Amino acid sequence: MRDYFAEEADAAAGVPARPIVRCVPGQTAIVTGANSGIGRAVAVALGQAGANVVVNYVAREADAAAVVDEIRSAGSQAIAVHADVSSEADVQAMFARAVEIFGAVDILINNAGLQKDAPLAEMTVAAWDLVINVNLKGQFLCAREAVRTFRRQGVRHNVSRAAGKIICMSSVHDVIPWAGHVNYAASKGGVAMMMKSIAQEVAPDGIRVNSLSPGAIRTPINTEAWNTPDAYKALMRLVPYRRIGEPMDIGRVAVWLASDDADYITGATIYVDGGMTLYPGFESGG
Ligand code: BGC
Repeated sequence: MRDYFAEEADAAAGVPARPIVRCVPGQTAIVTGANSGIGRAVAVALGQAGANVVVNYVAREADAAAVVDEIRSAGSQAIAVHADVSSEADVQAMFARAVEIFGAVDILINNAGLQKDAPLAEMTVAAWDLVINVNLKGQFLCAREAVRTFRRQGVRHNVSRAAGKIICMSSVHDVIPWAGHVNYAASKGGVAMMMKSIAQEVAPDGIRVNSLSPGAIRTPINTEAWNTPDAYKALMRLVPYRRIGEPMDIGRVAVWLASDDADYITGATIYVDGGMTLYPGFESGG
């Protein structure tokens, strides 16, 4: 089992940290839920790639401020903006603020999401509503505002071939059923089909819409799945590539997908999961 941290192993072997390619200079990105986990890594990676970044958060303002500092120290501009993505008014105010400060929006990373787990028979309506409101309605509200903004702007030829890019943060659980997480899996299944339907609708406007579907990534949302040796070992039975994902595994792919190097990709879901969707139970037998 490869039970190491990939980047620490690189460092131990003297392999220099791979720089992020500056492939989105002059573009402005809104990253929702950017003060922790995957959102944080994507925001930092986009900043390193030359984008101005709106670091959205709903709680823990100090964490958002730290992400802003990290992006600024990479030489890009960043601001923290408070908004609850499940609130129409908050989302509209966030886009207005982004345009006011940076003049345009080119990239939306529809990332904010949460889990509120319970066995079905014990799942409260509040737990269902919270997860669907943030993970699915939140992505709808932000995508709608992004499309309105991108259409108003048209293609900004000096920064990108597309009029705008939306990346929906989905999950392997948009295809892998997940007992005990019915609300979460339903929200991600919804994201998968919402993303494709929006992609089909707005492609003629030059807007690209895609999903990233992470597997098990080392973040606070799933600490108990990796923070003890036994848990990590059990997790590796579900990961053919035999290492947990690091947030920057998603950050790097998000930067590439938002850049013109991926200009002909729309309506796609990219699984960044070390093979979690490859039916790992069939590594032997069958
Ligand atoms: C969930 C994590 C989980 C991973 C793989 C993600 O979407 O948020 O809690 O570890 O899927 O199951």
